[in-house]
Amino acid sequence: MANTTYDLHNPTIETLLNRRSIRAFADEPIPADVVDTLESVAQHAASSQYLNDWSAIRVTDPDVAAKLAEIGGQPYIAQAPLLYVFVLDEHRNAQIAAAKGVDVDSDAFTLNGSYRFSQAQNDAVLALHAMETAAYSLGLGCVILGSLLNDVDGLIELLKLPKYTYPVLGLAIGKPAQEPALKPRMPKSVQFFENEYPQSSDELLTTLADFDADVHKYYDLRNTERPVDAFSDQIANNAVANMDGRTVGEPAARQGFRLDR
Ligand SMILES: Cc1cc2nc3c(=O)[nH]c(=O)nc-3n(C[C@H](O)[C@H](O)[C@H](O)COP(=O)(O)O)c2cc1C
Repeated sequence: MANTTYDLHNPTIETLLNRRSIRAFADEPIPADVVDTLESVAQHAASSQYLNDWSAIRVTDPDVAAKLAEIGGQPYIAQAPLLYVFVLDEHRNAQIAAAKGVDVDSDAFTLNGSYRFSQAQNDAVLALHAMETAAYSLGLGCVILGSLLNDVDGLIELLKLPKYTYPVLGLAIGKPAQEPALKPRMPKSVQFFENEYPQSSDELLTTLADFDADVHKYYDLRNTERPVDAFSDQIANNAVANMDGRTVGEPAARQGFRLDR
């Protein structure tokens, strides 16, 4: 049961509050009707300007899954019975617009600009999250995979992603073969603000001391030898993490996006 304080109970809220990443899956295929339902749910997510500018590649070829696991550096990627890579997709819309006479290689074409890039990414994430929630509601478990972006060029080549597409995230789904504890979440007072952003960091830093202690009690099943670092330490370490090869600008430009406009 989630450690969050809440008063209302219904199956949707229970599903969302008990969600935790699953990184070990039973070796059981996902029935076709479940796959079909999960895909319909994803399609029903909201879409900015109704452009529906995302797609998802269902990975069924074990060789492709193995290469994705290699890119991500996470073996469980290849073990997931159901695996998707969500991409932001203006390629389909470019094809549709071109068929209507739009010159998609001219400056008049704006679906490849920064605004659409970010909104299409939002669309893809919302669709992925809808699918993730539906999967949990059916007793399945998932892990979202940002690690696939370790090698964006390799991923684009592997999945043959055309111009005006860009990978967003992977989603691995399967019957859970582990029961990880729920990971603590920070007190709402430092994440929900009223009317304006707080101008002082006093409340944040005092509140986080307790939260740090809570997080430090959590054991990640990927490394059960020791509890995870305190939250503040995780943030400080991430704040200076090496991001070489993980920038968006250049690969996005190679995919035809113009993020400077
Ligand atoms: C955008 C995004 C990318 C993520 N990428 C990975 C990943 O590559 N591999 C992984 O094991 N978990 C990944 N996760 C899962 C997070 O590590 C996890 O959600 C977080 O630690 C909180 O734990 P919980 O999901 O169990 O509550 C990702 C989550 C998000 C939202």
